[in-house]
Amino acid sequence: MHPVRALLDLPRRRQAAALSALRHSVDVPTGEGWNTRFGPTSLFDAWTRTTLMTQLYAANRAALAPVVTRRPFRIVEIGGGNGRLWEGFLPPEAEGELVVVDPMPDVHAEVARVLPPGVRLTPIHARVEDAHLPVSDAVVCSLTLHHVAGADALEREHHGLVGPGKLEVLRQLAASVRPRQGFIVLNEADVYCDLALAPGDPVLEDQLLDSYVRRCAHALLDDLAAAEGEEARRLDAILWRWCVDQVALAHAPREQRDVYELDVSRWLALFRRAELRVTERRFTDDFGLFCQYLLAF
Ligand SMILES: C[S@@+](CC[C@H](N)C(=O)[O-])C[C@H]1O[C@@H](n2cnc3c(N)ncnc32)[C@H](O)[C@@H]1O
Repeated sequence: MHPVRALLDLPRRRQAAALSALRHSVDVPTGEGWNTRFGPTSLFDAWTRTTLMTQLYAANRAALAPVVTRRPFRIVEIGGGNGRLWEGFLPPEAEGELVVVDPMPDVHAEVARVLPPGVRLTPIHARVEDAHLPVSDAVVCSLTLHHVAGADALEREHHGLVGPGKLEVLRQLAASVRPRQGFIVLNEADVYCDLALAPGDPVLEDQLLDSYVRRCAHALLDDLAAAEGEEARRLDAILWRWCVDQVALAHAPREQRDVYELDVSRWLALFRRAELRVTERRFTDDFGLFCQYLLAF
């Protein structure tokens, strides 16, 4: 049995210590952190082929389908990754513009690679907090807003950080979609690990363990059981280095945590504050990890 699956059988309160011991006992080298490499042989490539992500993309394609058949459309994507959402989704005759906001230099070329000839990519090389967004038919923001620490600017200030938090970014997204018809597709994990939880707090450690191991790694174990060769090697590296190791972020200084997720109730409260209406919400996977919100105002 895979050691991570055995860990999932332990009583909840014993899992963090067992995980820490396990982390130090395995050697699965990879120089790739989350969101640092996007090419065809990268771990990110394998990640975007997992069942978790395939299901998330299917849900986002269903939401965006009415927009991509309009001629011409304009969609803004916040955090482009490797463009997997668009690959094989846009019809060859599609006409429009995809504006990709992402500070990572490789991302824009990766996304452009999978677009049909009638769809122009406009790159914005910036973090969403610093970007000026054009008016669009839809904004898609998948697994990216958790990189913005703090529910709002005030919470950030309280922890010595400047600039906008999630609320201010949501308002910026809402102001950029076309009145009446425009909408936002947002996907985030259902887990609370934002600034209010201090480094070293056992609740924070349990929250990270809950999302990265009890749900994300659990889902990956099922994919791993069916994988072979290079695919299995990459999934195993993701499982150790991007899931198990991630729990150690509970001990990193707040500004280095990198993931600042909210659970569903807190997202719903934040959408209300941003005057966004949730027209639909649902988990896109069987593990209750990633929630998709469709937002209008
Ligand atoms: C986990 S990936 C998600 C990629 C893609 N949306 C998907 O669902 O496959 C996060 C992406 O957000 C980008 N990113 C991180 N912080 C960001 C920020 N503050 N503003 C915009 N993009 C950001 C990363 O470079 C990366 O491409």
